[in-house]
Amino acid sequence: MAKPKSSLMDKIVSLCKRKGFVFQASEIYGGIGNTYDYGPLGVELLRKVREAWWNAMVTARPDVVGLDSAIIQNPKVWETSGHVGGFSDPMVDCKKCKGRFRADNLEHASCLEKPSKRPGECDGELTEAREFNLMFKTSVGPVEGTGSMAYLRPETAQGIFLNFKNVLESARMKPPFGIAQIGKSFRNEITPGNFVFRTREFEQGEMEFFVPPAEEKQWYDFWKNERFDWYKRHGITESKLRLRDHDKDELAHYSTACADVEYEYPFGWGELEGIACRTDFDLKRHSEASGTDLVYFDPQTKEKYTPFVIEPAGGINRMALTFLIDAYEEEQLEKDVRTVLHFHPLIAPTTVAVFPLVKKDGMPEKANEIVEMLRMARFTTDYDEKAAIGRRYRRQDEVGTPFCVTVDGDTLEGDVVTVRHRDSMEQEKVKISELVGYLHNAVMAWKR
Ligand code: GAP
Repeated sequence: MAKPKSSLMDKIVSLCKRKGFVFQASEIYGGIGNTYDYGPLGVELLRKVREAWWNAMVTARPDVVGLDSAIIQNPKVWETSGHVGGFSDPMVDCKKCKGRFRADNLEHASCLEKPSKRPGECDGELTEAREFNLMFKTSVGPVEGTGSMAYLRPETAQGIFLNFKNVLESARMKPPFGIAQIGKSFRNEITPGNFVFRTREFEQGEMEFFVPPAEEKQWYDFWKNERFDWYKRHGITESKLRLRDHDKDELAHYSTACADVEYEYPFGWGELEGIACRTDFDLKRHSEASGTDLVYFDPQTKEKYTPFVIEPAGGINRMALTFLIDAYEEEQLEKDVRTVLHFHPLIAPTTVAVFPLVKKDGMPEKANEIVEMLRMARFTTDYDEKAAIGRRYRRQDEVGTPFCVTVDGDTLEGDVVTVRHRDSMEQEKVKISELVGYLHNAVMAWKR
């Protein structure tokens, strides 16, 4: 599978707009920097990514439960977590063009007035570097002022720490156990970019896994491998994935180890997800600041301790982008080139498309009965009767639909349909009464 590397990102961006995956936000007003809306196929893609994450992290595990905590919390939360004091980038301003740039990234930035020059290399003078906090501020209630000031959360993780005791008691969990959450986070990123890779509003899938301190290393290794494997199981090309352990000088002061699952994007290797050992730092800090004892008492051993935490933290949008990039292929066929997205069927926005071979002889009616049957069986199903059958297959290939079902003369006479597989383009005859089971098995048996 040869992938043209040069303008792959441009092709992905264009396909996303054309097919309704991703649109620029506020587009009719000229947009708003690096903010995106997800269209009909994009929301399905995000939903499938979320479901795949949640299934692996919560549904399939007896030792992890879910949570949905508030985006706006008491501002003291962010003082205690260190985000008010430390969640910042060093920034410089250009006195001439008023551009603001990360001081540690000037070699990759461009002057706003002369894009071929770097900031400071044009005739504009740069200010001294100043720390710029990445949290968005807002005010709560009818009166604006410091008393009503609050932050939009920059990570979902803190909501989990705040609810440690609630979950421990209500769900009767005992370490080792985890609390998982999917939700929006907000960061006033100075250098967002590469389409939806880094945006100011994004969704995270985070899980805090609370363990007895002596089990930290064992669970860290477990979650590193499990998260790496999750991407492979969901079809990401293994040679484009790597696990990178952080050097000591990259670690936060409270962290004993951290590793990133990285992907080789068209713009280079980049972080897809991080797995961190956060020790007992967060629970201890929140205990001290709130006065609520966030410890675990083991009734059997009579031991009382603050659990250590292993945190796998990924971005749902970044995962979706990675699935899109990795799935994209322009495949040279005998007579032409087809654009195809080789999504894992669990990730594909549409799982199955149903076509009547022609728009007559009762075929559309039969095809619609099959659509109803597949929707009742919870397959994300599309129906298309427009254009020649070959064109319809290609339309589905381009959005990554793994299976197409065609209703033809045999269906009317013998209750069999033709199932066409996206990747091999092979076709098989399947009885309508066996179609749901057949597709279910094909989804589960799919291999890249
Ligand atoms: N609680 C730990 C934490 O938030 P992080 O590395 O800052 O760690 C975790 O974020 C993941 O969230 C990243 O690996 C990335 O996938 C995603 N992420 C972070 N910032 C993002 C942004 N500005 N846009 C899109 N995704 C982002």
